[in-house]
Amino acid sequence: MSIPFITAEEAASYIKNGDNVGFSGFTASGTPKVVTVALAKRARELHEKGEPFKINMFTGASTNDHVDGELARANAINIRTPYQGHPDSRKALNDGEIHYFDAHLSHVSQDLRYGFFGDIDVAIIEVTEMTPNGEFILGAGLGMSPTLAMMAKKVIIEYSSFYKTSFRGFHDNYVPLDPPHRREIPIYKPSDRIGSTVIKIDPKRIIGIVPSNASESIKPFHASDETTHRIGENVCNFLASQLREGKMPKEFLPIQSGVGNVANAVLYGLGENPDIPQFEMYTEVIQDAVMTLMEEGKCKFASTCALTFSDDAMTHFMDNIDFFRDKILMRPGEISNSPEVVRRLGLIAMNTALEADIFGNVNSTHVLGTKMMNGIGGSADFCRNAYLSIFSCPSIQKGGKISAIVPMVSHVDHSEHSVKILVTEQGVADLRGKDPRQRAHTIIENCAHPMYKQLLWDYLKLCEGKGVHTPHSLRSAFAFHQTLMEEGDMTLTDYARFEKR
Ligand code: COA
Repeated sequence: MSIPFITAEEAASYIKNGDNVGFSGFTASGTPKVVTVALAKRARELHEKGEPFKINMFTGASTNDHVDGELARANAINIRTPYQGHPDSRKALNDGEIHYFDAHLSHVSQDLRYGFFGDIDVAIIEVTEMTPNGEFILGAGLGMSPTLAMMAKKVIIEYSSFYKTSFRGFHDNYVPLDPPHRREIPIYKPSDRIGSTVIKIDPKRIIGIVPSNASESIKPFHASDETTHRIGENVCNFLASQLREGKMPKEFLPIQSGVGNVANAVLYGLGENPDIPQFEMYTEVIQDAVMTLMEEGKCKFASTCALTFSDDAMTHFMDNIDFFRDKILMRPGEISNSPEVVRRLGLIAMNTALEADIFGNVNSTHVLGTKMMNGIGGSADFCRNAYLSIFSCPSIQKGGKISAIVPMVSHVDHSEHSVKILVTEQGVADLRGKDPRQRAHTIIENCAHPMYKQLLWDYLKLCEGKGVHTPHSLRSAFAFHQTLMEEGDMTLTDYARFEKR
């Protein structure tokens, strides 16, 4: 059966108001780039005619402007999960126009297969190669594509001709059996291949193929500034100390590294530190830094869900693809983030916090406890199950008006039970084996910015006493946040005001 080539507009016309739509890719990598633009246009036209049009969006992770940006601006999104990072969708979901629920990235594929959210009516899947019998090679990111290919009632293929070189051989497509039949995921080292290089889709379910030649449009990360550089150094020196003290196997352990500028700085720090041996990665995204580390021989192998390379770095990767062929595997998000595999491999998980409290609870998602930033992503898949779970962030934000170390986090994503190490540019707090008071002392002493140390000591003094395990004053626990909201600056915190209330 030959599959017809169709236009993006024709493809979009098959998507109906209220449909559950699944999208390939993970971060911008491997996400659709043309059908969604046509879909947004269709939504606007229908809205102008007074007709409702919104879809429910299921993605591997964040996407690109072609997906989240276009559809959010067209007011075409009803439900959205599991992760986004686009300013337009962020605004719409914080305004209550999009019903966003934040979910662990390892959960969404299986939750879809379990039927928790209903059927997938349409999947839009970007591919870079195909055969007439329905075998497809995916692009730079997998996300949920193998599950979508299996489940979707109808599939639209976006056929990208942007890449001049083949991705064939880089993918490890695998869908676990569902309970009660699930077996172990047989990955015992990051380079173990367990699945297929292609995904198969019954041509009868494919509506058509839409040509595309758009790049991932990923911008390079900022060069690290002094703060992120110092965070990177602190993380690396700490890891080196763990090796010296025998708290980590001498062969070292696979690294998981989150997204963003801090994560990039930490990776470059690992490359520069002579005490860190060669390492492998088992992670959900690899950024530009990893490619450099591979070329320098520091990173031997990376298992990932996506190649989140800037456009220039992607060109470099493609020009040197044979060098990377035996050094990278891309897997679906439920495998790259599998808690079972994370626990078995004993990862060093390094993720970023918006704020942390003096007892080690971490908020990665909500500014002032209410405004969603991006979502929890894969951070908890890794944090809860890692050998060593490290969170890092700058100790202050907005020129010092915000302290990232607070008495009580305004939202909890990662609890004190999972967070083992906290790092800022000020230093490292090792929370292992410490009770809440000891944790508070270590965090204030080692991680808080000098502008905020006394305020945090004062908080602790206010609440310490007999009969409490975790010293808190429920009157002043949010005094930092409250003062920021009322006076625009956490340094102006005056506990007396709150204690009187
Ligand atoms: N209160 C208010 N605003 C804060 C803040 C706080 N405690 N901490 C940071 N911000 C602001 C910053 O000032 C900055 O604002 P700007 O955009 O106006 O400049 C913005 O939030 C981003 O801060 P930045 O330090 O640049 O963060 P980042 O790019 O390193 O991202 C997270 C940090 C937490 C948002 C990001 O890592 C994330 O989404 N994490 C959750 C998902 C995850 O961990 N994924 C990886 C798992 S593998």
